[in-house]
Amino acid sequence: MSSNDIVVGLDIGTTKICAIVGRKNEYGKIDILGMGKAESAGVTRGVVTNIQKTVSAIQEAVKIAAEKSNVDIKVVHVGIAGQHIKSLRHRGVIVRGNGEDEIGNEDITRLVEDMHRLVMQPGEEIIHVFPQEYTVDAEHGIKDPIGMAGVRLEGNFHIITGQVTAAKNIYRCVTKAGLQVADLVLEPIASSEAVLTEEEKEHGVALIDIGGGTTDLAIFQDGIIRHTAVVPLGGNIITEDIKEGCSVMRKQADALKVRFGSALADEAKENEIISIPGLRGREPREISVKNLAYIIQ
Ligand SMILES: Nc1ncnc2c1ncn2[C@@H]1O[C@H](COP(=O)(O)OP(=O)(O)OP(=O)(O)O)[C@@H](O)[C@H]1O
Ligand SMILES: [Mg+2]
Repeated sequence: MSSNDIVVGLDIGTTKICAIVGRKNEYGKIDILGMGKAESAGVTRGVVTNIQKTVSAIQEAVKIAAEKSNVDIKVVHVGIAGQHIKSLRHRGVIVRGNGEDEIGNEDITRLVEDMHRLVMQPGEEIIHVFPQEYTVDAEHGIKDPIGMAGVRLEGNFHIITGQVTAAKNIYRCVTKAGLQVADLVLEPIASSEAVLTEEEKEHGVALIDIGGGTTDLAIFQDGIIRHTAVVPLGGNIITEDIKEGCSVMRKQADALKVRFGSALADEAKENEIISIPGLRGREPREISVKNLAYIIQ
């Protein structure tokens, strides 16, 4: 098995850090060889806030994934998310010397490089530049202009930016964990690659990933990425409300939510009671499923 065919993804999430090892098969798809997961304690709303805890969790997840897949993991593709992520649209233009020459990859590269030269707000950097559609002279809505003739090539681009410090902290954690970063990928983009089909993207689709600390969004239409966003809200805020509302520990609150939670209080059974063992010999606590649903709702 060639090591070039091995790809490792690392998801630094708010509740868990996950490493997954795959191998590209002969059809260009990825076979999963192994996966490792560790509880994440150093990440807040998708952003690393404690380096040491994050490094330990990365090491733990990667160790499990390495054992399961029997692959010596050295290089990883890492996801990035968090409230600091912004997306914007920008238009670029190049005027070509000879309109008879076919538009080639070098023209597209020039346009993309121009986008990378855009001046960002202080402390922000460009993470991705995705071409949306091109205009060649008067012809609009071209997805692939390569091979066409034209003097003026215009492109619309979806640009994703993030905070330099957030990205640096990810690099720092991964490096301290003894690994090398192959690239940083915006999480909703990575999820879209994993779960959406080309037909769905063509037809129009919104991908929503509700995590612990963030909710990621990616919208596609006509096969083009139209919008991406990372909202700093996730399942953890419901867990926190249950923790406060029922006076229980966070772990218990999360288990109550996952096992007995319902988002619609009217549909919860009136007289169903959950008993939670008391700490150190204290009386057990009783919580009604209806009340739990009211808190969630
Ligand atoms: N069956 C379930 N019903 C409701 N919530 C659930 C269920 N299973 C998991 N959750 C919640 O999902 C959240 C964790 O999701 P996930 O593992 O996608 O987050 P993450 O990737 O660690 O975080 P993020 O992507 O926000 O950084 C937690 O709040 C957890 O309580
Ligand atoms: Mg996540």
